[in-house]
Amino acid sequence: MASSSLPPPLPSSTSLTSQQSSSPPSQLPIRKMPGSYGWPLVGPLSDRLDYFWFQGPEKFFKSRSEKYKSTVFRTNIPPAFPFLGNVNPNIVAVLDVKSFSYLFDMDLVDKRDVLIGDFRPSLDFYGGIRVGVYLDTTEPKHAKVKSFAMEILKRSSEVWLRELLSNLDKFWETVESDISKNPDGGASYLIGLQRCMFNFLSTAMTGANPSVSPDIAENGWKMLDKWLAIQVIPTTKIGILQPLEEIFLHSWAYPFFLVAGDYKKLYDFISENAGDVIRLGDEEYGLTRDETVHNLLFNLGFNAYGGFSIFLPSLIGKIAGDTTGLQERLRTEVRKVCGSGSVLNFRTVNEMELVKSVVYETLRLNPPVPLQYARARDDFKISSHDAVYEVKKGELLCGYQPLVMRDASIFDDPEEFKPDRFVGETGSKLLNYLFWSNGPQTGTPSASNKQCAAKEMVTITAALIIANLFLRYDKITGDAGSIKTVVKAT
Ligand code: HEM
Repeated sequence: MASSSLPPPLPSSTSLTSQQSSSPPSQLPIRKMPGSYGWPLVGPLSDRLDYFWFQGPEKFFKSRSEKYKSTVFRTNIPPAFPFLGNVNPNIVAVLDVKSFSYLFDMDLVDKRDVLIGDFRPSLDFYGGIRVGVYLDTTEPKHAKVKSFAMEILKRSSEVWLRELLSNLDKFWETVESDISKNPDGGASYLIGLQRCMFNFLSTAMTGANPSVSPDIAENGWKMLDKWLAIQVIPTTKIGILQPLEEIFLHSWAYPFFLVAGDYKKLYDFISENAGDVIRLGDEEYGLTRDETVHNLLFNLGFNAYGGFSIFLPSLIGKIAGDTTGLQERLRTEVRKVCGSGSVLNFRTVNEMELVKSVVYETLRLNPPVPLQYARARDDFKISSHDAVYEVKKGELLCGYQPLVMRDASIFDDPEEFKPDRFVGETGSKLLNYLFWSNGPQTGTPSASNKQCAAKEMVTITAALIIANLFLRYDKITGDAGSIKTVVKAT
């Protein structure tokens, strides 16, 4: 199916399933769900070795989908075996746009403790508190912490723009200085980018400016990197020599005490310097200081800093590495909209159709959070584009977004990076099927769903970063790890 004959758009929040289909479920054949979990221990271990070692995540899902001739099937996913406690590796994989969108239907699925699958890192990583992202919508605390997160973003918008632009200035000055010191090799920018994002996000989201603490200003981003890595190691393919990765990284959960000192420093920094938002949490949302600070740290460290650290290198790399004339087109659009005064703000950036489309297309091909999970509240029927399958109460659905976002029923030339894909009336309809935020890009994050609280802020921030780049430079060259050359704006 081409994008000119798309299925009806998904509605903006929940209960998508009855409306999302080009053919209603009743017209599709009911099929026995293919796939299996294999023998106890042997099946999960063999799937784990395929996932991390012999195949890698993409081939793991793709080869099984081809074998079963279905985008919905049963399989196992790591972590599994042997010292990870009571983790159940059994999942129902959902690999097309239609079956994936059942993950957003809060009437059908439960999102309790399934952020990264059946394995949930120890609560020690969050001060013993189940922070918002682990709460299901039926838990009253979810509405409080989600509304609190959205309110902080709303209140911060002025600081957001100012802090983003001033930290970007420092970032690009460092890149330029590194290039001048090493004209042949260029500048590796990942550390500088992480430092920039940490300083910007901490100040914008919590009001705590790292400049008040030399230790946090210098090392805060590193502390978050370690805290993030230690939590997710059992579920993440690193790519070091096998079988060492399996033996040392994927067989047990690493304990919190390895990063406890750093986490305490970050906690104290937020607790001492984020007075206004802590008061807001207490007075408007009934949250204790502990609940507020640990939720802020999670939103800052895991969602915001973690998300941007994965997303931005793919965005900058795509633009810096382009040889098709995209940079000239972006530059022209940015300068035309901003005018001779170079006025860059939320309003002007919103008028940049191509810039926004490039952001969306990068999120489509490189969704920063590749796996999404949700558990069936009850038995129900799930539809792919061509069949209906029965899901049992308690089964864990798992969507692998990189394949879902290349669903040929929805996206023309799905493997291709098309900068204009989301431009114009037809292009904007495709936003109904862009799912990086755990919901359609046309959806509305709310207390009653689990869509990313910063759905708009993330895309607008990325668009501001591109626009700022083309006000500063005529051209850059490089990739997802380094900038080779920059040509200053004439
Ligand atoms: C590139 C950056 C980001 C990406 C890729 C991203 C992605 C996501 C995804 C995929 C989820 C759903 C997880 C799940 O339940 O399966 C999520 C949830 C969430 N995100 Fe983001 N996010 C980003 C930035 C942010 C920022 C800046 C904030 C700031 C407040 C934020 C706040 C949240 C919150 C509070 C939730 C939980 C929603 C709920 O419990 O209902 N995110 N994010």
